[in-house]
Amino acid sequence: MTMTAATDKSDKYTAETITWIDTWVPDKLFSFRTTRYQGYRFTPGQFARLGVKKHHPEKGEYIAWRAYSIVSANYDEFLEFYSIVVPDGEFTSELARLKVGDTVYVEKMNYGFLTTDRFEQGKDLWMLSSGTGLAPFISILWDMKTWEDYERIIIVHSVRDEQELAYRDAIEGFKTHEYFGEFCQGNPQKLIYVPVVTRQQLPGTLHQRITTVIDNGELEKFTGVPLDLERSRIMICGNPDMVDDIRKMLAGKGYTTSRRGQPGNMAVENYW
Ligand SMILES: Cc1cc2nc3c(=O)[nH]c(=O)nc-3n(C[C@H](O)[C@H](O)[C@H](O)COP(=O)(O)OP(=O)(O)OC[C@H]3O[C@@H](n4cnc5c(N)ncnc54)[C@H](O)[C@@H]3O)c2cc1C
Ligand SMILES: NC(=O)c1ccc[n+]([C@@H]2O[C@H](COP(=O)([O-])OP(=O)(O)OC[C@H]3O[C@@H](n4cnc5c(N)ncnc54)[C@H](OP(=O)(O)O)[C@@H]3O)[C@@H](O)[C@H]2O)c1
Repeated sequence: MTMTAATDKSDKYTAETITWIDTWVPDKLFSFRTTRYQGYRFTPGQFARLGVKKHHPEKGEYIAWRAYSIVSANYDEFLEFYSIVVPDGEFTSELARLKVGDTVYVEKMNYGFLTTDRFEQGKDLWMLSSGTGLAPFISILWDMKTWEDYERIIIVHSVRDEQELAYRDAIEGFKTHEYFGEFCQGNPQKLIYVPVVTRQQLPGTLHQRITTVIDNGELEKFTGVPLDLERSRIMICGNPDMVDDIRKMLAGKGYTTSRRGQPGNMAVENYW
């Protein structure tokens, strides 16, 4: 969490314009796009640092900064983000007020290690998420390399209620997409989407936590894909308790976290 004096001119960041906003759940979840500085580079799965202008009664105007995973493809001309609204949150209470045409600051640096280049030689890519932790995995899905490198891609999204299953249609849409859909022709198991809705019982979804469905074998049963040390490469993102609980559970089965220069079969990112 950082504060900087508010100015539209800096070597460290650019002022971008909001071009599109889409609400998933009023006052709770929304997505938005901004213009993209031409020199801005990132690897799918990475995050940006975004700034919004705030006013402090004593210090005056400042920019509040937060980490945000990038949803959009690295070849898109825009940047897309998926956000929670935290009641009274310093950053999101302001972000949620902004409209198309308003300014969001974007640091020129890209960040993070939740990227598929952390792994070697996997066959099945598992992307396990809770809430807005789905965001980096959408960008990874937009990357053709993901589809070329893995035989199967499994994307698991855990939310409390059905209405929070953001990007559901977009994920399902990859199966018939004009480019990505080709990978699914004759191979309907290429992309497997697993919606997990923990506070409702709905057909076609799992309703126990990801930790529970890993432990009791329901996740493997639902997907038809075994978790296997040799084949599986597992990314986990979102609620820190969930990330930690899954990480410990998988570590007990022999999975190791990828570190710089030392590829493992697990990569994680905590959102708070
Ligand atoms: C690497 C990284 C990537 C992130 N990417 C995203 C993203 O793509 N989308 C996004 O909405 N947030 C993301 N976050 C969280 C984000 O940085 C802020 O915490 C969030 O915008 C809330 O800011 P705030 O100032 O309103 O509240 P804060 O003061 O930052 O947080 C207050 C509390 O709100 C809860 N909280 C914070 N973020 C979330 C969240 N995303 N979901 C559920 N509860 C939360 C936690 O209990 C936290 O203690 C990311 C965080 C990290 C570290
Ligand atoms: N969603 C709401 O309607 C709501 C309402 C009031 C306040 N809030 C606050 O808003 C914040 C974000 O809420 P959110 O719903 O986006 O995120 P969340 O509380 O992280 O829940 C998202 C998903 O993660 C699961 N989960 C949480 N902890 C887990 C763990 N240790 N292991 C495995 N799975 C786990 C949840 O299951 P469970 O359902 O079993 O927890 C749920 O399916 C939270 O701080 C929350 O207190 C949310």
